[in-house]
Amino acid sequence: MEKIIRLENICYHYYDTISALADISLEIKGGERFAIIGANGTGKTTLLQIINGLIFPDSGRLFFKGNEVLKQTLKDRGFLRFFRQSVGYVFQDSDVQLFCPTVLDELLYGPLQLEISEKEAMDRAFEIMKMLKIEHLKERPTYMLSGGEKKKVAIGSILTMNPEVLLLDEPTNGLDPKTQCFLVELMLALNEAGKTLVLATHDLSLVDELQATVAVLSEEHRIEKTGRATEILKDEDLLLRVNLIHEHIHRHGEMTHRHIHSHYLFHRHDHD
Ligand SMILES: Nc1ncnc2c1ncn2[C@@H]1O[C@H](COP(=O)(O)OP(=O)(O)OP(=O)(O)O)[C@@H](O)[C@H]1O
Ligand SMILES: [Mg+2]
Repeated sequence: MEKIIRLENICYHYYDTISALADISLEIKGGERFAIIGANGTGKTTLLQIINGLIFPDSGRLFFKGNEVLKQTLKDRGFLRFFRQSVGYVFQDSDVQLFCPTVLDELLYGPLQLEISEKEAMDRAFEIMKMLKIEHLKERPTYMLSGGEKKKVAIGSILTMNPEVLLLDEPTNGLDPKTQCFLVELMLALNEAGKTLVLATHDLSLVDELQATVAVLSEEHRIEKTGRATEILKDEDLLLRVNLIHEHIHRHGEMTHRHIHSHYLFHRHDHD
């Protein structure tokens, strides 16, 4: 498979002082399901924003299909359009992403920005609304939606642009189990249709369900390990070290229990 995204030794600080990413190098292939996992504050969102060319690294380089993505290269209208059309970004917080008066306007905004005809934009919007089962919400202002509905609209507003790569920041956060399940099925179907998925999450069950390639970020903002989901998820020492699972030791009478806790792993009891 063709390498579609390449990061070389990326470092990033907010305000020149707060470290968010340290020496990140990775490669993502076309058609891959790639998950960036890490505890809160490890740099997942920052990394997706760099991959989307929304912020630029202090040092290191980003390539998209062999083209270097820089402030300078994005000033070229042709490259900007190609890059924006190819890579769609679903924000962690839907409220940051949604700004149009209604759901339908939100779905039309991207394609119209890309100068796609009104008829084609409308066809895409209706097709996506049907797929996401949100047709009944089309006239609704986005601030009058539930969190899960907002998430669907945010995803829909990216899908109407038909990007090749989808960057999804914590896509399943705050969704009920049925909606999470729906979203996993949707991501798998999109991937099956050829789209590259890059997601940031600390939801280990999502990583498992997608059978993703995984990059694990440490609290020092470095890549601790990359590997297949199965390999990463069975590495308890690694998951403990990067704070994606935690251990409790407590007593019941004479018995001491040691529990490994996470949403993903079942409680495991070791008796001393
Ligand atoms: N706008 C900002 N200004 C200053 N520091 C920031 C800003 N956004 C993030 N940071 C810092 O950069 C680091 C990485 O943050 P980032 O949001 O990328 O982490 P994350 O892995 O996405 O976390 P979460 O799981 O909580 O979403 C953190 O230490 C955070 O405090
Ligand atoms: Mg984040």
